[in-house]
Amino acid sequence: MAIQTPFYYYDIELLEATLQSLTDAVPSSNFKVHYAIKANAEDRILKTIRKYGLGADCVSGNEITKALSCGFEANEIVLAGVGKSDAELHTAISNGIHSINCESIEELVVINEIAEQNNRVANISFRINPNVDAKTHHKITTGLSENKFGIPISEVSRAIAEIRKMPFLSLSGIHFHIGSQILSMDPFIKLCNQVNTLLDEIEAEGINLEHINVGGGLGIDYLTPDENPIPDFEKYFAVFHEHLNVRENQTVHFELGRSVVAQCGSLISKVLYVKKGATKNFAIIDAGMTELIRPALYDSYHEIENITADAALGQDNYSVVGPICESSDVFGELEMPITKRGDILQIKSAGAYGQVLSSNYNLRDSALAYYSDENDLKSYIGQTKESALA
Ligand code: LLP
Repeated sequence: MAIQTPFYYYDIELLEATLQSLTDAVPSSNFKVHYAIKANAEDRILKTIRKYGLGADCVSGNEITKALSCGFEANEIVLAGVGKSDAELHTAISNGIHSINCESIEELVVINEIAEQNNRVANISFRINPNVDAKTHHKITTGLSENKFGIPISEVSRAIAEIRKMPFLSLSGIHFHIGSQILSMDPFIKLCNQVNTLLDEIEAEGINLEHINVGGGLGIDYLTPDENPIPDFEKYFAVFHEHLNVRENQTVHFELGRSVVAQCGSLISKVLYVKKGATKNFAIIDAGMTELIRPALYDSYHEIENITADAALGQDNYSVVGPICESSDVFGELEMPITKRGDILQIKSAGAYGQVLSSNYNLRDSALAYYSDENDLKSYIGQTKESALA
């Protein structure tokens, strides 16, 4: 059967090499990594990640159900989210997940009620807003006071006083997440310092926490993905190993998404038309912001390669755009080998926040996913030739 473009292609060998590098880099047995499912929730990807012993960080009831169905144990699942519905809290509590990251005192009241209905004591972590600037794109910054996330540090004492009155809740940890695509280690060091101060304050209230969850956020190299396919996990974990004053018997949790899956995924698309505009050439491809919204939403850069061009023909400049009726439906401006209708473009580093953020806007079909351990990319591309377009 012919394969339709656009499609996602996942390099499972690279995913496994990334997971191996991550697990090798964990410096201490009290460090536990949860994979942030929101980055990519394909079953094949989740099952591969599970093989390496990671837990799951979920932000919806459906993500919990998906994690369980892909083999993650309930006691290795955490739930975050600033607006959890009652149904999602039921799913979390009735399955006995490891911890619910609570983002407000108002939410504590609701979780306590739902835990009572389930006749269970729910483990709670306070998600704290540390007011640390992640120095990343403002749309993916989460740890500043102006952001909607977490309980302000100034409210922590009040939250502790409230949770003490709630018989169906047990405070087991604190949680932070300052943002995403963070490449400098400085914001993480600042986070550690904030956590240390807060830990002292919480201990002074007579509470010994079981775990400290420092969230995710480690960035990847979008500019030169082929040179740096695997993030520097060692450098990242070393920051927390060195700067966090972890107490004995305390575990440190991480919620990594992008750094695990971004580089293993590409969006593969066919050139529909090469159009000479008044000021530039447009390469109009059959993938759009419906398949990969990151450039339109965050002005993000993804390397684009014409993988079927005839290099001997020379180079030209192109604006690579999708077919959607939105001016923001642009993947990038770049120099490429002379490009023609039917050529195949590979849009790289699309494994995280790519397929999961796709939509059916314009009633478009959903792009399917294909995996390197079943066929290599060349062979998948060969199969697109049978499509109506070729
Ligand atoms: N934990 C929490 C509470 C989060 O909100 C996130 C991501 C993560 C962990 C995982 O962060 P990571 O390790 O992937 O940086 N769609 C945007 C990224 C949004 C991130 C949302 N939260 C993008 O495409 O850049």
